[in-house]
Amino acid sequence: MDDIECVGVVGGGQMGSGIAQLAAVHGLHVWLLDSHPQALQKARDFISTNIHRLISKNHLSQAKGDETIGRLHFTSKLEDFHSVDIVIEAIVESEDVKKKLFASLDGITKASAILASNTSSISITRIAAATNRPPQVIGMHFMNPPPIMKLVEIVRGADTSDNTFNVTKQLAERFGKTVICSQDFSGFIVNRILMPMINEAFYALYTGVATKEDIDTGMKLGTNHPMGPLQLADFIGLDVCLSILKVLHAGLGDNKYAPCPLLMQYVDAGRLGKKRGLGVYSYPRL
Ligand code: NAI
Repeated sequence: MDDIECVGVVGGGQMGSGIAQLAAVHGLHVWLLDSHPQALQKARDFISTNIHRLISKNHLSQAKGDETIGRLHFTSKLEDFHSVDIVIEAIVESEDVKKKLFASLDGITKASAILASNTSSISITRIAAATNRPPQVIGMHFMNPPPIMKLVEIVRGADTSDNTFNVTKQLAERFGKTVICSQDFSGFIVNRILMPMINEAFYALYTGVATKEDIDTGMKLGTNHPMGPLQLADFIGLDVCLSILKVLHAGLGDNKYAPCPLLMQYVDAGRLGKKRGLGVYSYPRL
């Protein structure tokens, strides 16, 4: 099974809506599913606004834009995934919830379909074990926002087949991405390195080393990062950062990954970052 024509995306949040847009712009038929009707409507509006913006900036002709929108289908029923060639899952970063979803997908999708997870940190091997097709389960980790960021990190589980890897890699390259390949250890490559830095920035804020602005300016101008770690955490979502740190802490068994109490407190308070209008910084509501 090499020709991907139809993709199912599960989760219409920040990542899923961007992945669905990317796939449709690159000629694939897309089913985007979210269990929350409001999230599905928000994803539809978000993608439509982005495509109209691409048209107005002449990055896409009106006809191509219309075709792209015509290739997108929105649903709340998993049964609509019966004919997709690949599923890209982008739901909440919880191992139990992802395993349940993959078990359901295994029962609904055609036997040849690849089941990919956009997980930031959770074991692909364990997600795959919830299905009867571990050779066809893989990590396909996009960066945020998926239409813009050039990287896809592909994660092979213990049983991922070469064919699954090759088809997934080709798909990422068709999207114009550069692929890196990681073995299946908590956090893979990017978050293994990024999350301890973000956590340390929270510790610096928590222990009064400096203001949030100075921490971010220090890392921007001092290390040439395009954005400081606290602002980046807001863009990723503080709940997502906390979930990833918990996976790193549990999976790698080292206290250096223990989430900073300030990060936990922000999440408890509902300060989830840019998507909620308030995190470390405040943002105009979307
Ligand atoms: P989000 O919170 O923006 O969106 C998650 C969406 O999934 C929500 O719309 C929710 O309604 C939906 N959902 C939750 N459980 C569901 C289920 N069982 N069935 C169907 N829909 C369900 O989260 P975000 O940021 O898009 O992250 C999604 C995944 O992508 C996570 O695994 C995260 O670790 C990963 N990721 C996140 C990045 C980021 O910068 N936020 C970057 C790369 C990966």
